[in-house]
Parts: sequence; structure tokens; C-alpha cells
Amino acid sequence: MTALERIEGIRREASEAIAAAGDTATLEQVRVRYLGRKAELPNLLRGVAELAPAERAATGKAANEARQGLERAIEERAGELAASELQQRLQADRVDVTLPADPAAHLGHLHLLTQTWREIEDVFIGLGFDVAEGPEVETVYLNFDALNAEPTHPSRLETDTFYLESDGPFELLNPDTLLLRTQTSPVQVRAMRAAPPPLYVIAPGRVFRPDSDATHVPQFHQVEGIAVDEGVTLADLQGTLLAFARAVFGAEREVRMRPHFFPFTEPSVEVDVSCFQCVRGILPGGGRCPLCKGTAWIEILGAGMIDPNVLTEVGDPAYDPERVSGFAFGLGIDRIAMLKHGVPDLRLMFENDVRFLEQF
Ligand code: DAH
Repeated sequence: MTALERIEGIRREASEAIAAAGDTATLEQVRVRYLGRKAELPNLLRGVAELAPAERAATGKAANEARQGLERAIEERAGELAASELQQRLQADRVDVTLPADPAAHLGHLHLLTQTWREIEDVFIGLGFDVAEGPEVETVYLNFDALNAEPTHPSRLETDTFYLESDGPFELLNPDTLLLRTQTSPVQVRAMRAAPPPLYVIAPGRVFRPDSDATHVPQFHQVEGIAVDEGVTLADLQGTLLAFARAVFGAEREVRMRPHFFPFTEPSVEVDVSCFQCVRGILPGGGRCPLCKGTAWIEILGAGMIDPNVLTEVGDPAYDPERVSGFAFGLGIDRIAMLKHGVPDLRLMFENDVRFLEQF
């Protein structure tokens, strides 16, 4: 085989390999194989000088042309491959902007009790009350004694109060014995100890009693309210509660007070709101109203004028019952939510069934 034939052979073989290279990496291997430092064609070119003078010119020319031709072919093929590889990448990375966006994550909402708790807070904040908090673990003294509860008061029994083991021998009547507060009323005394009158405070929070049925659970929620100032009367209590009832149950509501007994108020009252589902106990379509049981009134809370014994128990001379007077009230957040939204069973509030919770 002459040198010219060999060059032509290399050129043809290399041209086929270039055309067949399917990607830039393969093309680079082809380039190294045919034009690299150790490849045959460049070797031939380097050896031209040693050839016989007659062959030198033709061989050199042919080898040079072959090399330049291959270089051009590689460059061309590299351009094609780069373009098609870019095209493939663009295709793979494509985002279809016409697809609908992912639906926004469902954020949920506040629990009905939290909503009601905040609604009640808002009403009293609007009337000028501050919001206070007290501990859920209380002493016998603050939960009962300071609130003027007789040692024989039935709510002190273990059937009505969760007592916690105390350090000393466990005694129901030991003022230091710890319990889970059965009411938010101890915050009355705590708030009065913390600041002199005039005092306008509500205290929402969790309370505990060993009860369990459709309208009672062992842990529920109350809001306590107190107003202590010079010249506070039962009329102020009535006006405050009327504003509350209208804000929560509708502008047409009325309230009425019935005499009652609580250890820490004198006089004590139970407060009813006029029924918001009927007219004088009769449903709009006729028939007895099931909500108020035909009485036209619904009990919503307990209240009264703070007993002078409680003011004295605060221990602060600023709470001299000869100088200041006050009213107090206590309402159940759970009860208000049930009434307002027609929830038939209190336990639904705590089962966390989303089919129930979603409705509010
Ligand atoms: N602490 C009472 C209860 O749990 C509710 C109550 C009634 C609170 C009358 C008061 C009040 O402040 O004046 O049943």
C-alpha cells in the first residue's frame, strides 16, 4: 500500500467515525484516535521529511489536506452535536406554564372553642376590661377559703374536685393542699392582690371537675370577670352583661337576673339571656322551642356583688369594703359555644373529628 493509499484509508475511516459519533464525548475520543499526538496521520506528517524527494510533496500535501479536512469535519459535527444536546436538555427541563398551579395547602382554622374564647375576650376588652391569667393548679385556700366557701361546701368533696397529692398528709381542708382549680374565681383574689382598684379584669382559662356526660367533661373553660371601684352597683353588672349578651347573641337580646347563691357574692344571681331562636318560647313555625324549652330564657352565667368577706380576704387595705364595691361573674366558654352554634353534645368539642370541626 502506498502512503497516499494509506492516507486515503485513514481519511475515509475517520470520516465515518466522525459521522457516527452520537455525542460530544464520543466525538472527542474519535478526535484523539485520528488526530491526537500518538495518532497515525500526524505521525505520517512528521515523517514526510524522511521520504524520498519524489514522494515528499504529494504525500505531504495529501496528509495535510486529510488532516485539515478531518479537523473541519470534527468541528462541524461538534457544532451539530452541541446543538442537539442543548435541544435535548431544553426539552427535558421544560416547564409547562399552562398547567394549573398546585392547590394552596389547606391551613385549617381555629377550634370553635378558641374562636369563642377570643370573641368573648374581644367583647370585654371593648368594654375596658384587662385580661389576666391564673394557674390551673391552685391551693385549697384560693379556690375555696378566700372565696368564702364554707368548710362544708359540697364542691370541696373529692367527688367534685380533683385534689393533687401534697407533701404533708393529704387534707381536704388544709389551705395549702393543691388541687386542679374547679373555677376561674380564684383569679379574682389574685388580680386584686396584684393591683389596687379601680380594677376591671377578665380571666379566661381551663377548669377541672370530675364530671362526664353530654354537657359536662372533666376539663372545660370559664371566663371570670370582676369590676371593683367606688360606687359599683348591681345595675353596672346588669348593663355590662346586657352589652355582652347583645354582642354575642344578637342586638335584640335582653337579660334578666334571678336570685341565686354563690359563696363569694352577695347578693348572687343567675343571669338568663332571652332566647334567640323563638318568640316567647314558641318557634316561628309554631311549636315549643327546644333551645329554651318554651321558657323564652336561657341561663348563661352566674354573677353577683363581691362579698365583703372576699374583699377583706385580699389583705390589701385598698380593697376596704367600706370604700369600694365590685361585681363578679363567671361564664362557661363551652356552654356559650354550644348554645350559639347548636352543638348537642359537649364531647364533640374534644373528639377532634374534622367533620365536626370543619363546620365552624
Ligand atoms: N365560679 C362559679 C362556678 O364555677 C361561677 C361564678 C358565679 C363566678 C358567680 C362568679 C360569680 O364570679 O359571681 O360555678
